[in-house]
Amino acid sequence: MNVNKVHSTDLAVVIEFVEKNCGIVLDDSKSYLVESRLGPILPIEGVSSYAQLIDKAYRERSGKLKHKIIDSITTNETYFFRDHKPFELLAHKLLPDILEKQMDSNRPCVKIWSAASSTGQEVYSIAMILKELLGNFYNHDLRIIGTDISHAALEIASRALYGRVELSRGLTGARLKRHFVPVDNLWRVNEDLRGIVAFHHLNLLSGTATIPVQDVIFCRNVAFYFSKENKQRLFSNIAQKLPAGGYLVIGSTESLVGMDVPFEKKQFHGNIYYQRL
Ligand SMILES: C[S@@+](CC[C@H](N)C(=O)[O-])C[C@H]1O[C@@H](n2cnc3c(N)ncnc32)[C@H](O)[C@@H]1O
Repeated sequence: MNVNKVHSTDLAVVIEFVEKNCGIVLDDSKSYLVESRLGPILPIEGVSSYAQLIDKAYRERSGKLKHKIIDSITTNETYFFRDHKPFELLAHKLLPDILEKQMDSNRPCVKIWSAASSTGQEVYSIAMILKELLGNFYNHDLRIIGTDISHAALEIASRALYGRVELSRGLTGARLKRHFVPVDNLWRVNEDLRGIVAFHHLNLLSGTATIPVQDVIFCRNVAFYFSKENKQRLFSNIAQKLPAGGYLVIGSTESLVGMDVPFEKKQFHGNIYYQRL
């Protein structure tokens, strides 16, 4: 008997745990995902079923096992300049508009939040755009925050060290040369870019009290894992972190249709974005 096979009663327990703790909706067809991602944890945790694993996570006070399960079950797929268009939009419309409004300021301020930053590629792509637009950072107050529910993803993001495979996805040779330095056989994001970014742990469904009001929020490729109710909760939380006129960028396959949220859909050269009413 394969001990890593998930039976339907155990699958229901896992599904409930995952939705309760990170909002991600797994349906019955996702047994392969549970088996491949949580199966290896069973022997390590000394349990023989998925229901026992979840029970152990509920009982454990430190929350360590809960985080381990979340780290394993979340899909952290991301890459530099994913979908291109949002970064063109940022460079040619959003940032010029934000800076123009502060034309009289000695030190214009730009605050951008990547609300499901995964392993950091989205955050560093935004930082590269800022660098390419501004030349240097001395005359601006720039703050990019990356948040995610996965501690493992955040650790990778904070290290800012990437290997050949990650670098080959979305990054041009010119950008690699300009914004990274080689470290052994990896590449680290340049110090000036790292200096304007910060990563924090955050469950987007638990409230966003610790996040300051932003100019732009990137919330891409996370809402599609949530139920309709949790999507509503997510975008209501996000709306609280933007002033009137603030910008929201969502994933290319996502939409706010059917949500009761204060955003107006806009387009710039075919790039869709949302503006806070
Ligand atoms: C597919 S990645 C998207 C990364 C990046 N935004 C992009 O578009 O390339 C989705 C990320 O959402 C995170 N996530 C899932 N549920 C979350 C929640 N409730 N709160 C915060 N982050 C969450 C996952 O850990 C994962 O890193």
